Amino acid sequence: MTASFGSSGGNAVNPEQRAEVLFRDRMAQQYEELVGQRGAYWWYAVREFLLHRMGLHAGGWLYDAGCGVGLYALRIAERFPRVRVLAVDFSAESLRRLCEEARHRGVAERIQAVCADITQWSPPQPVRWVLCTEVLQHLPTAELRQQALQRFAESLLPEGELWLVVARHTRDDRRRGVPKEIDERAAGGYFRMRFTVAEVRQLVRRSGLQLIWIGGAPVPSARYGQRLPRQLWRLAHWIQRLPGSAHIGRVLIVRARRC
Ligand SMILES: C[S@@+](CC[C@H](N)C(=O)[O-])C[C@H]1O[C@@H](n2cnc3c(N)ncnc32)[C@H](O)[C@@H]1O
Repeated sequence: MTASFGSSGGNAVNPEQRAEVLFRDRMAQQYEELVGQRGAYWWYAVREFLLHRMGLHAGGWLYDAGCGVGLYALRIAERFPRVRVLAVDFSAESLRRLCEEARHRGVAERIQAVCADITQWSPPQPVRWVLCTEVLQHLPTAELRQQALQRFAESLLPEGELWLVVARHTRDDRRRGVPKEIDERAAGGYFRMRFTVAEVRQLVRRSGLQLIWIGGAPVPSARYGQRLPRQLWRLAHWIQRLPGSAHIGRVLIVRARRC
């Protein structure tokens, strides 16, 4: 495993997200436990869906942008031995945990960890896939989000694919007055937002990528999700493939391609 990180890896972090780096470093040890509260069904409906659809058996380089503690990177390295993962995050503590776990699971040779800001960093060589799960929603300005998308587009080989997972702002959110954006940076937290389908379409199109598909994962809030049996994943995957699923899920899954 090659790992290039110390505190922020010597790479600058955009000023809008400095508070988030500290927060992610503090939370790195608890992150997996926290998101585990969503329940097994959530992970089957979203992560397994991606791993089934991305065509990873073909092998090649995959750039996991904002990989966190490696909930996707580690699973991919274990399941798809021909894939090499560039795992990038601006939280050095999250990457430390990822590397420790990679060694423990015997997949360290398949993962290269880099501490960097995804709005500024590009892989040393073009990649076959860019995977970016639950990260775009934390970039606090439209400019940073577009910058990240632009970098992803430039990172791909011809025919290479971008797969995104973002939170959706649903009709139910609007009815209940759930804000589209929540900014807790001044209180030592981070920024988060939920996207509309139209916003995601626009982001992808402006990056020059060809939008192939947007689907929605029918995952409820953690409170209810925990109670759903994981066996329901087959139903979730079936719903996700239906045209118009993007308008029913709480999570949007996006597939785009470099022409
Ligand atoms: C909600 S977590 C998702 C982690 C992982 N992708 C997953 O799905 O489990 C968001 C991650 O994005 C990282 N992140 C946010 N903005 C970033 C940026 N500009 N550059 C690099 N990493 C960033 C955070 O440090 C955090 O680890």
